[in-house]
Amino acid sequence: MAKGKNTVIFFCQECGYESSKWMGQCPGCRQWNTFVEENVTVRAPGKGMSQGLTKNRPSPLSEISLEEEDRISTHMIELDRVLGGGLVAGSLTLVGGDPGIGKSTLLLQVCRNLAGDEKEVLYVSGEESLKQIKIRANRIGDFNEHLKLLCETSLEAIEENIRRTSPDVVVIDSIQTMYRESVSSAPGSVSQVREATSVLLQLAKGLNISIFIVGHVTKEGTVAGPRVLEHMVDTVLYFEGDRHASYRILRGVKNRFGSTNEIGVFEMESAGLKEVLNPSEFMLSGKPKDANGSIVVCSMEGTRPMLIEVQALVCHSNFGIPRRQTIGTDFNRVNLLIAVLEKRLGLSLGNCDAYVNIAGGIKIQEPAIDLGIAMAVVSSFKNRTIDNKLIAIGEVGLSGEVRGVSMIQARIQEAAKLGFTTCVIPYVCMESVKEVTGIKAVGVKSVKEAIQLL
Ligand code: TYD
Ligand code: MG
Repeated sequence: MAKGKNTVIFFCQECGYESSKWMGQCPGCRQWNTFVEENVTVRAPGKGMSQGLTKNRPSPLSEISLEEEDRISTHMIELDRVLGGGLVAGSLTLVGGDPGIGKSTLLLQVCRNLAGDEKEVLYVSGEESLKQIKIRANRIGDFNEHLKLLCETSLEAIEENIRRTSPDVVVIDSIQTMYRESVSSAPGSVSQVREATSVLLQLAKGLNISIFIVGHVTKEGTVAGPRVLEHMVDTVLYFEGDRHASYRILRGVKNRFGSTNEIGVFEMESAGLKEVLNPSEFMLSGKPKDANGSIVVCSMEGTRPMLIEVQALVCHSNFGIPRRQTIGTDFNRVNLLIAVLEKRLGLSLGNCDAYVNIAGGIKIQEPAIDLGIAMAVVSSFKNRTIDNKLIAIGEVGLSGEVRGVSMIQARIQEAAKLGFTTCVIPYVCMESVKEVTGIKAVGVKSVKEAIQLL
């Protein structure tokens, strides 16, 4: 490729794979029809990429000190936990999520808390005017003068600004609106987004600034999703939830400074996002009493047990092929559990429609809720209610056996805390369970045994 020349390059929108010709299937991620054409100006080498980086030299492992990274508390327990104990200085964090889910609100609240700690914070918005941000800020509360706002989409100008004022924390809202003049393709295209992120990466590492990047996830082809950036940043957080429901879940997908299976739960209120410190209580509010097909299960979200209601509705099918549907859990897993119930318990579910719903709109993949799903399906099928104070934990195998799950003690304790009195657990876990006051653990070896308990 010649220097400083306009070239057409094809990019995979999923993984950022680069190619000089269009391809139907991406060799990188094996997805079909993901290539887009972009005009790219190839830069002369030696410019840009290495600017601003501190000069590094190789050092032996023994010389590297294992001091804790500098963690900055955001004063939001839920966010700190997902970040692995606070914001790390010099880290690049990507916050992804659907438009309108509350990314700007969350980050503005973070800015407010950090500014309250006398940190210099710069909030760069390429989407909204200063007035619009002011309106949002007014709903959230008072801000001090440590927070500065900037409406700008040119990366050169932003970079110049950051180098001049050297803030502690920078928020870029959003990466899709940022552009670099030296790259000829449109803002939001794969090459622009990648280029912009690499500039921010250099700033974060070179000047030890923590940078948050907001990225929209869109299903359309024209805007590059944050997927292509995931491998460039230190931490990837996804903000998800039903836009019509008030709660939001912040999930860590990648974290170079902590575990990725933690979640943070928030609730969108009229004055911004509020942390939900006891998600179990929140998820179980509104659970119907004495309705059949409803049971409470416990799923581990990182280190936190979370009680969730599983609902099943089984009714006679009026058509030849029974309809099966799941909301919030794996469709194939539910089909498998229904097949186990048919074969091992002799229930004739073959001519029944079955719907399984995880209440609250949350998504759970953990197999520990299998037993709960199976019991809810049987409860609805037989029109029998399950005791309101009962909770079921366990994975179900193909021969109908109930298999062990991890962290059983924490789950039972959470159930006891919320007033449950009976806990159906896998028999193999019985010996690792210590007595918890107020709750009785019942070990079962198979789904059949569990059903007989009802
Ligand atoms: P926003 O942060 O703009 O979403 P994003 O940046 O992810 O696109 O907020 C989206 C929604 O949140 C918006 O529809 C209004 C609502 N909202 C509240 O309910 N309460 C509030 O205090 C604020 C600031 C927003
Ligand atoms: Mg926004």
